[in-house]
Formats: sequence, C-alpha cells, structure tokens
Amino acid sequence: MKGYCVGFFMVLSVLVLASATTSKFQNLPIISFDEGYSHLFGDNNLMILKDGQTVHISLNERSGAGFISQDLYLHGFFSASIKLPSDYTAGIVVAFYMSNGDMFEKNHDELDFEFLGNIRGKEWRIQTNIYGNGSTNIGREERYSLGFDPSEDFHQYSILWTENLIIFYVDDVPIREIKRTEEMGGDFPSKPMSLYSTIWDGSTWATNGGKYKVNYKYAPYIAEFSDLVLHGCAVDPIELSSKKCGAGDSLDDLNVQTGLTSDQRSKMLQFRKNNLQYSYCYDRVRYTTPLSECVIDPREAERLRGFDPVTFGGGRRHHGKRHHHRSKASKTESTTSI
Ligand SMILES: *[C@@H]1O[C@H](CO)[C@@H](O)[C@H](O)[C@H]1NC(C)=O
Repeated sequence: MKGYCVGFFMVLSVLVLASATTSKFQNLPIISFDEGYSHLFGDNNLMILKDGQTVHISLNERSGAGFISQDLYLHGFFSASIKLPSDYTAGIVVAFYMSNGDMFEKNHDELDFEFLGNIRGKEWRIQTNIYGNGSTNIGREERYSLGFDPSEDFHQYSILWTENLIIFYVDDVPIREIKRTEEMGGDFPSKPMSLYSTIWDGSTWATNGGKYKVNYKYAPYIAEFSDLVLHGCAVDPIELSSKKCGAGDSLDDLNVQTGLTSDQRSKMLQFRKNNLQYSYCYDRVRYTTPLSECVIDPREAERLRGFDPVTFGGGRRHHGKRHHHRSKASKTESTTSI
C-alpha cells in the first residue's frame, strides 16, 4: 500500500510537472499550495483540492479560515485567481494581502486586496489599501466596483511591489498605481512581508458600515483560490535580507515586468473612470489637501463629486499647491511617530 502511494505520487508529480502552467498575466510560474503556502487557521475550513493547486477556504458559525506563505518576501509579484462566494454575502470579508504585522507589531507594513460582500442582488466591492511602518492612523483606501460578477468565475488579482512602485491589478488591468514619494517616508511598505488569504466575519463594518451582518443560514461561505503565484525576493527570516534579488527598483532578475506601458495606463484610467467609488486622494473631509503620492485626475475628481459632493468637496476647486503637500507631509510624520 505504501509503495503504491509513493508510486502514485511520483506519477502525479510527473503529471504536474509536465503540465506546469504559468499565470495568464505576466506569465509567471503557478505553484501548488504545498510549495508556497501553509494553513494558518480555521481547521477543517481549509480544503486543498486534488490538483494541489486549488484551495477552498470557508466561513461558517464556528470559524473563518486562512493560509499564509511559507516565505517572507521583499518585493515581487504576487497573484491568485479567486472566485468569491455567491448569493447573500453581507458582512463577509475575503482578503488577499501582504503583511508583517506578526513580526512588527508597532510598525508593520501592509498591502491589501479586500473583498466586501453584499446583500443579495448587489455586487461585491473591492478595496485596496496600504500601510507602511505602522501608519495605521492614515488610511489610504480605495474602493471599486468590478464590472463583472466575481462570484461567477475566477479572476486574477495581483500585487506588484517594488522599492518605489506598487501596482494592484485585476486580471490584466492595473487598477491602482502608487509611486513612492519622499514625503511618504516610512508610509511606503519597505520591510519583508508574508502573503495571506483569509475569509472572516466582518459583520461590524464590511457592508454599509455594519448595517448588514453575516447570515449563517447561507453558510458555509466558500472562497476558491487557484493559479497561485509567489514570485518575489524571498528573504532569510532572521537577517530579513534577500539573496535572490539585488537592490534597486528592478525585478529584472525575476522576469517581472514593472511599470506600465501606455496601453496599460489607458486601461487603468478607463477602469478607474468606470469603477472607482472611493479614493482617499479625493476625500476632502479626511484630508483637506491630498497626500503627496496622490495624482489628482480632474475626471476622477469630478465623477466622485457627482456621487458624494460632501466627501469629495463639491463646492471647492482642487488644491494642488506644493506647499500644501509639504505641510500635510510634516503633519503626517508627526502623527505617525506618536
Ligand atoms: C519606522 O518607525 C520606527 C519607529 O516606530 C522608526 O525608528 C523608523 O525610523 C521608521 N522607519 C522609516 C523608514 O520611517
């Protein structure tokens, strides 16, 4: 029996190797769950499918579930194809994110894709956010609709992170670009992070600020993950330095395309024109002047003002003066260091 099993696994690995696939976007190697990830929490609520490359994590009355990358990474391209639970999903949060919160409690870094469930008939919303060096008092959230139903099919969600640039992608469309500015200082993520995928009960805030809670009548809620890509500079967990990648902005060694072509940039603008629902860059209630990294697009501003004139500063014209940026940045720094 044992011999049979070993033989079977050898055949299986040969088959897997033979059919080694790459991600649709960026063309990077897809790994099996066991190659790159470990079970983080939720006991039986994590299930690896027979292909070894597809993982289900679910939420029921007892627990959510999650998994974590075995390695820490300093920069790279990280991606998963995700299919979200369907039907009534209010209060459900599915997250695909990078963090080092368990190593750096006070000054952690984070890069988030968060999927916020909704009541029946309303679509999922997707949120991106970044924190650097414990900048948790400075939210940099953006929210978008998707233009497709993410519970109907798998779609690829990716994070590119280099020393000076972060790009979030949905399929082959960049949806958000953050270029590091000097004023951002430590707010730009700069320490090695792990990859996480989780599903959990966000009843207190996820849907209309907590108005709609998780309804366990419809449980289990299952999120499916496949096409896992962890293509980054893995670091030594003690020294926290990478042997695989050199210093600098380029991920050339890893064959990752960084930066946007003009075609990708116009796709991004088009996506944002159609789907951007919230951006901290235009929220004049929270930030009277935009933070230094914000690139203000008058069309985005106008559209958001149409949605919500109070938050997005209907009456006033945009403030884009340099000295405003600087004064905001110093305020930011002093708040961060508290
Ligand atoms: C990060 O925060 C720590 C203290 O919390 C500080 O000593 C350090 O200089 C900060 N790093 C950056 C890059 O701002």
